[in-house]
Amino acid sequence: MAYAPTLAWTPLSGPEEAQIVAAHAARMQRYVDFLSIPSVSAVPEHAADCRKAAEWLAAELRRIGAKRVEVSETGGHPIVVGERIEDPKLPTIVIYGHYDVQPGDPLDLWKTSPFEPIVRDGRMLGRGSADDKGQIVIHLAALEALLSTRGKLPVNVKYLFEGEEESSSVNLERWMAANPERCSGDAVIISDTGFFEGNLPALTVGLRGITYMQVDVRNSDVDLHSGGYGGSVINPANALAAMIASLHDENRHITVPGFYDDVVELSPDDRAAFAALPFSDANYLAGIDAKATQGEAGYSTVERRGGRPTLDVNGIWGGFTGDGSKTIIPAHAHAKISCRLVMAQDPAKIALQVEAALKAAAPRGLDVEVRNLGNGYPFLTPLGDPYLKAAAGALKETFGADPLYLREGGSIPIAALFQRELSLPVVLLGFTPPDDNAHAPNESMDLGNFEGGIRAVIRALDAVAALR
Ligand code: BES
Ligand code: ZN
Repeated sequence: MAYAPTLAWTPLSGPEEAQIVAAHAARMQRYVDFLSIPSVSAVPEHAADCRKAAEWLAAELRRIGAKRVEVSETGGHPIVVGERIEDPKLPTIVIYGHYDVQPGDPLDLWKTSPFEPIVRDGRMLGRGSADDKGQIVIHLAALEALLSTRGKLPVNVKYLFEGEEESSSVNLERWMAANPERCSGDAVIISDTGFFEGNLPALTVGLRGITYMQVDVRNSDVDLHSGGYGGSVINPANALAAMIASLHDENRHITVPGFYDDVVELSPDDRAAFAALPFSDANYLAGIDAKATQGEAGYSTVERRGGRPTLDVNGIWGGFTGDGSKTIIPAHAHAKISCRLVMAQDPAKIALQVEAALKAAAPRGLDVEVRNLGNGYPFLTPLGDPYLKAAAGALKETFGADPLYLREGGSIPIAALFQRELSLPVVLLGFTPPDDNAHAPNESMDLGNFEGGIRAVIRALDAVAALR
């Protein structure tokens, strides 16, 4: 994949700029140290590494001058909190990032080992460099620059760094309910999104929700000889493939009964906004070395990605998958299936509908078990939000262009939780380049986005202070 050139950004005019420049080498070393901890939340063997990353972050927050820093238990991987309450009269901003990362594999496709980060071609290369440790380091650097030059922040901040975002934030809602004071404030900044194709500055205003499930189907107690049983008993792998195939029609609409009932259709204005984005299907495909787009009939690629729901197989297995051939009818077969959801779909309701549709499509006699592995609500924030405008101004001053407003396809469960449960305005202020290879081999962060991100966070906090 071709890398975009390092992005340009405008330095700050105050004394913070000199501090940020002077701290460059130390900051890069800390960035490397943080990325070197393999805090993969989905893999139980990495639980100790998740804790190590949490402790590392807590130590950084304390070193820089955050107060009430704590590694807080969730029942799963801990959440790191800390704060600076400068003056109760100032607005309080909750700042969110996640320190957990996706697994590193497949390792053979990496240019470096995923947890031995290196700087190459103006980018930090390593798992979590963009999603999302790099963005946490941006906030730490901004905090350090402000405290060491002004001795205080322009607003109150509460940091909340999660360790289970990449595994559907399963313990987060309960933790938030048990720790309301750590989550309260006037607005939330979530830094876990990025810029648009061409590395154009952007603010994400919409995210899709998600429901994730595992389907296990079983017919016999052991694999069977396909000569003796082929054609005369249910083949679970064939059956599962047919069940899954039945969930879409020829127009790529999802056939699950009730699936679209709560979908808010794209308005003419929404569609005009999607159409106005400087997006090219050809570049999109070239970026992943693929030949064709595919999706729901009647929608453009950006609409399909940010404005329409999906049902996708994430993994499918069963039977014989080794080298050579083995003639069997598998005893069982399995799939991981997720739906990306849009306003105002309810993930728990969709999970039940998909389960029912899979069971209805199964041949009589096949055992079908469906387990829900996680849910997150979709998110959409109004364009007129004053905090969003403050962030837009900070991006313009830093990167020289008005940001694009995006409805993105990914999910960040906490965004809707803050909005739905706590009625807080949420700004998704993220800095990753579009070619960051998040979740894939050779994840990287453009160091222009990273350095500019530090300046933009400082400008955004100053702009929020000026809202009062
Ligand atoms: N940073 C992403 C979310 C994202 C991706 C936002 C693309 C905008 C565009 C985040 O870390 C992530 O990957 N989230 C998961 C959440 C899921 C496991 C519940 C996702 O979207 O798959
Ligand atoms: Zn992610």
